[in-house]
Amino acid sequence: MANRRTVIAGNWKMFKTTGEATDYAVRFLEEVKEVTDLDIILCAPFTALYTLKNELEESIVHLGAQNMAWADQGAYTGEISAQMLLDVACTYVILGHSERREMFGETDEEIAKKVRQALATGLTPIVCCGENLNLREEGKAVERVQGQVTRALEGLSTEELSKIIVAYEPIWAIGTGKTASSKDAQEMCASIRATLKVLMGLAAEKVPILYGGSVKAENIAELMTEPDVDGALVGGASLDPLSFAKLILNAVPSSVSVEEGI
Ligand code: PGA
Repeated sequence: MANRRTVIAGNWKMFKTTGEATDYAVRFLEEVKEVTDLDIILCAPFTALYTLKNELEESIVHLGAQNMAWADQGAYTGEISAQMLLDVACTYVILGHSERREMFGETDEEIAKKVRQALATGLTPIVCCGENLNLREEGKAVERVQGQVTRALEGLSTEELSKIIVAYEPIWAIGTGKTASSKDAQEMCASIRATLKVLMGLAAEKVPILYGGSVKAENIAELMTEPDVDGALVGGASLDPLSFAKLILNAVPSSVSVEEGI
């Protein structure tokens, strides 16, 4: 791996009340307190962010949101601004997750505006892309993913692009228990890096590219052996603090895997 950060981000989706988030944070921090070699991010629902801000203060765990508005402020009922996220100590935001694209009609154009807004305010966007099963079977997966990445990021400066994280999440692997093979994940992450090179030249070597889709403690180590897979965006397996901590320990190249350690 070309000296890139390793990033493991949990995406809680629409799970956890404030009480559950507090309980999680206490148990999770205890498990990961010795981790130093990677960036851990918890992307929680908006309503749990303030609670987590207090729980995670001065810890190694960073806070992220799962979406945000492209506007600064104003009459946008139901939306949450970048400033509001910064106010509760969020430093990351997931943008363009397939569940937002598929169920809430988010377009490439809106996602591109959100990426700009995140960068302008100092949030790090985790920009998601991924094909559905039909496109994969038709051999159009690479074309779709490269198109999504280009449309989200074109026009940004190299300096701006150096601040982003990309997450490749094939829709057919999300929440289905069907992980892409590490070879498939590598192939797509490499083609995303090729797209980034077109946009930003050699600086693309520094951008972390994550894989997401049924990542668990049992399959993370194999995914992490691939040269262009720099970490994971984890849904279901991030909901339990102990299993998520185990996944993280298994992702750190130098650490003894929890299973081996027992
Ligand atoms: P999953 O979800 O790990 O439950 O498959 C990943 C995601 O949607 O980010």
